[in-house]
Amino acid sequence: MAYRRFFCNLDLPSRTIENRNSTIEHRPWWQTGVIYQIYPRSFFDANGDGIGDLDGIRRKLDYCSGTLGVDALWLSPFYPSPQKDFGYDVADYTAVHSDYGTLADFDRLLSEAHERGLKIILDFVPNHTSEEHDWFTESRSSKDSDKRDWYIWKDPVEGPDGQPGPPNNWLSNFGGSAWEWDETTEQYYLHLYLPGQPDLNWRNPEVQEAMFEQARFWLERGADGFRIDVAHAIMKDPAFRDNPPNPSGEGFHKHRGAYDEQLHLYEEGHPDTHRVYRAFRRLLDGYSTDSDRIALGEMHIYDRGEWASYYGQPRADGTRDEMHLPINFALLKADWTAAGVREIVDSLEAILPRGAWPNYVLGNHDEPRLRTRLGGKDQARQAAVLLLTLRGTPMLYYGDELGLEEVEIPPEEQLDPWGQNVPGLGRDGCRTPMPWTSESDTAGFSEASPDQLWRPVGEANRRRSVEAQIDDETSVLALYRRLLGLRRETPALHAGSYRPLDRGVPEGCFAYLRTGPDRDRVVAAINFTDEALTVPLPAEGALLLSSRLDRRDETTGERLHLRPHEAAVVRIA
Ligand code: NOJ
Ligand code: CA
Repeated sequence: MAYRRFFCNLDLPSRTIENRNSTIEHRPWWQTGVIYQIYPRSFFDANGDGIGDLDGIRRKLDYCSGTLGVDALWLSPFYPSPQKDFGYDVADYTAVHSDYGTLADFDRLLSEAHERGLKIILDFVPNHTSEEHDWFTESRSSKDSDKRDWYIWKDPVEGPDGQPGPPNNWLSNFGGSAWEWDETTEQYYLHLYLPGQPDLNWRNPEVQEAMFEQARFWLERGADGFRIDVAHAIMKDPAFRDNPPNPSGEGFHKHRGAYDEQLHLYEEGHPDTHRVYRAFRRLLDGYSTDSDRIALGEMHIYDRGEWASYYGQPRADGTRDEMHLPINFALLKADWTAAGVREIVDSLEAILPRGAWPNYVLGNHDEPRLRTRLGGKDQARQAAVLLLTLRGTPMLYYGDELGLEEVEIPPEEQLDPWGQNVPGLGRDGCRTPMPWTSESDTAGFSEASPDQLWRPVGEANRRRSVEAQIDDETSVLALYRRLLGLRRETPALHAGSYRPLDRGVPEGCFAYLRTGPDRDRVVAAINFTDEALTVPLPAEGALLLSSRLDRRDETTGERLHLRPHEAAVVRIA
C-alpha cells in the first residue's frame, strides 16, 4: 500500500543531532512550523483611516507569536498599486503603498518579528505587473521601446468571421479574452488577469534578472522568503497555440464560467517554468543558512504528479532544487467526507518525491471562509484538528482561528473584480477586518467610524472577536491555541510519519497514526458523520484534546468514542 512507503521511509532532508537519550532529527523551521497568512488591509488599522497597515501588524505581533503561537507570517501584497486587484497589481515592487505605511514601518515590523522568532514571508507577484508600473508605461509607449519585449505583445489575427481579433482563444481569469487591444501601438497585450495586470514576458532574460533584483531587495532587508503568486503560469507556450475545449466542462478552478470550458494547456504549467524556479531557488539559497529562506508557490496544477514536480530534482544533500513548498490546494476542493479527505491525503503521501515535504491549506484570501464553505462550526473545528495534525506544514488564514464566517456582500457592492465579473465569486467576504473586541462598532480593528472601514466587519464576526473568545476555554480560538501548542511540543505531530488507520475504523471516520522520530505516537480521528462512532486504537490511549474542548483527563483504553462531527487527538502507548 502506498502509505507503507512513507511510514517506513522518513525520507526528509535532515541533519541529525545526537541527544543524550535519543536521536532527534533537526528539520528546517518551514517543515516543523505553522505559517499564518495575513491580509494587511484587514488585520489591524494603526492610524485610524479604515485600512489595515504594516504598523497594525507590528502591534499585533504578540498575538501572532504569543497568543496563537505561529512561526511565520505570510503578508499579502502591500506594495504601491492602483488596487484594481487589491495589491496583486504591483506598480513598484520595492516600496510600500502609502495605505500600508513606509519602508521604515516594514523594517520595524521585520525586526520586531525577528526578535520574537517569527519569520516574515512576502508575496512576490512575477506573472504580471500593474499597467501603472514604469516598465509597462515604457513598454506600451512604442513598438521600439527597450521594454517592448518585457511584456507579451501580438498583432491581431483574422478570426473565423474574417475580422481581425485577438491572437488566440486564451481567457482572462477575471472573464473575457486574455488579450487587450492597445490603440497607441495597435497591438494586443496579454493579461491572464485584469487588463490592468499585463503579463510579463519571462522568456526575456532581462525580465528574469529584473524580477530577481526585486526579490534581492527584500532578501537584503531580511525577508525570510516569498509566496509566489500565479507561480504556475509565468511561462507561456512560445507558439501561443489555442487552448482545446474542456470535454468534461468541469473546472478545476470552479470559476463556473467560460474559463472552465477550456483546458488551460498552453498558458499554465509550461515545462520551461522549472528552470525559473531552479534559478530562484539558487537565489534564495544564496541568502540562506540551512535552507531557511523559502519559496511557497501558488501552484494551481491539478495533475498531482505534475504538481509535485515543482519541488524540483533531488540534490546531493537530500533536498530538492525548486520550491520548498508548492502550495497544495487540494483540501480546499475536497468533498468534506472521510473518504474524500483521506483520498487527498493518501494520494499526496503517495506522490511526494523523496526529500519533498507536504503542506496543506484550508483557507486563503481567494476562497470563501472555511466555516461557511464547510457548513458550520463543528466542521470548522474538525478542519482545525485536521490541518494541525496532518504531516506537513499547515497554512492558516487570519481569522479562521476565530471561526469567522464569510461576510455577505452583494455583487454590486463588491470591490473585488471577480465579484463584479463573475456572479457569486466575489472575494470581499473573506477579506473583512479582523475582529479584536466585540464592544466597539469596528470590532477594535480601527478607530475610524464603521462606515469608513474599507470593508464591513460583519455582525456575526464582530461577536467572535479575539476578546470574546480569549477567556473561553472551549472557544474556537482556544481550540487553535491548544492545537498549535500540541503540535509544537509533540514531535509525532510536527515531524512524525503518517499512516491511515483501517482496521475496524467505521465508515465516515478518518483516523491516522503519527509516529515521531523518538517513537512517540498520536492518533487523530475525525468523525464526519452526524452519528456517534467508536474507533479502535492501535494501543491504549489518553485523550489529548477533543474538537469541542469539553473532555478532559480521559483515558480511552483501546477504543475512542466520538460524538457526531467530533474530532479528537489521542496519545497512545
Ligand atoms: C492569485 C492571488 O491569490 C489572487 O488574489 C490574485 O487575484 C491573482 N493571483 C492574480 O494576481
Ligand atoms: Ca491604516
